[in-house]
Amino acid sequence: MKILAIETSCDDSCIALAECSTSKFKLISNLISSQIEIHRKWGGVYPALARREHQKNLTPLLIQALEGANVLKKSKSEIQSSKLKKLESILGREKILSKKLIKFLSKYKKPKIDLIAVTIGPGLDPCLWTGVNFTKALSYFWEIPIIGINHIEAHIFANNRLSIIADKKNLPALALIVSGGHTQLILIKKLGDYKILGETRDDAAGEAFDKIARIIGLDYPGGPAIAAAAQKSNTKDRMSNRFETKLPRPMLNTKNYDFSFSGLKTAVLYDYKKRTKKERESKQYIQIMAGEAQQAIIDVLIKKTIKAAKDYRIKSILLGGGVSANKELRKQFQQRIKKENSRFNLYISPSEYCTDNAAMIAAVACFQRTAKSRTLDNWQNIKAQPNLRID
Ligand code: KG4
Ligand code: ZN
Repeated sequence: MKILAIETSCDDSCIALAECSTSKFKLISNLISSQIEIHRKWGGVYPALARREHQKNLTPLLIQALEGANVLKKSKSEIQSSKLKKLESILGREKILSKKLIKFLSKYKKPKIDLIAVTIGPGLDPCLWTGVNFTKALSYFWEIPIIGINHIEAHIFANNRLSIIADKKNLPALALIVSGGHTQLILIKKLGDYKILGETRDDAAGEAFDKIARIIGLDYPGGPAIAAAAQKSNTKDRMSNRFETKLPRPMLNTKNYDFSFSGLKTAVLYDYKKRTKKERESKQYIQIMAGEAQQAIIDVLIKKTIKAAKDYRIKSILLGGGVSANKELRKQFQQRIKKENSRFNLYISPSEYCTDNAAMIAAVACFQRTAKSRTLDNWQNIKAQPNLRID
């Protein structure tokens, strides 16, 4: 079964193509069009702009993916006027996309694809809708079935982790999903059976990285910028603590598994405001603050995850989401697990599969369809669900 997967929940336009069967999942292509440069001047994702970019990017990405897989053939026949009208109505709210997609559909024959998978939530409403409308149009025109996928479940499956989650010796498992929009600790009792144990009460961990970076004058996305600045802060500076920056570790010792990062951001802001202009702009201050903020986030994430893992007698821990690309977080998680004398297996994907991609959407669709744990969706009824939950 060939799966075409589409992901537009935030600011990355992603399309992947994969070959799937009960025994294998083979990625044919995994394309991402990043919008970082566009959102940089806003210091965060600007949803209306992100949506416009998705509209521009999706058709060229689709062509690239299909051409790469050698499944595109030119068509000589024109689109019937009734079909054209229907397409225009499905894409009525996606003017830029509509033009590009209809031009493409009129030039090429239906490719050999068996299923189209699309992220339906959680995510930014306007961005999700562009991906969903794109998928509806393709499904209607090519008469290919579709399936809506949960973005958080996809982060759990990133890098095709089906074999890990399907293996009984890894269960129950615990997933820490840390991204720009979410911070959740999810109990996986068995494949496809999830319970959210805890989540952020305000800002997500990635959002904290992004907002703190903005306060101290670093670029968007804040995660990689803070990580780079933190790496430069030398230990001697941090030890001498020239700036006396000890930031709070919010909710570190609470009994529940929830998180809160907005107080951390406020603490950074207070500290920043109390500095002279010269101090604020000094490399040393920025690097020390970046190092301390990163460490505060890491301390909370690791402590809460280990607590949940022990309380629920977890066998394995899976990290996912953009923040899990953070090298220091990965390193310190590994060190901490070692200290636990291999009580838990730790699985961290390669960094390129931590941030948003459509390969992870295809992976969930492949599992759900081969396990027959999900029925197909109907292009007429499928909807974006910005607040979709996994449990
Ligand atoms: O999963 P993702 O690509 O998109 C969402 O679903 O939100 O995560 C994006 C988030 C951003 O907040 C970004 O700053 C953060 O992941 N991020 C990082 C790193 N790379 C990306 N945070 C910390 N360290 C990194 N190396
Ligand atoms: Zn994500």
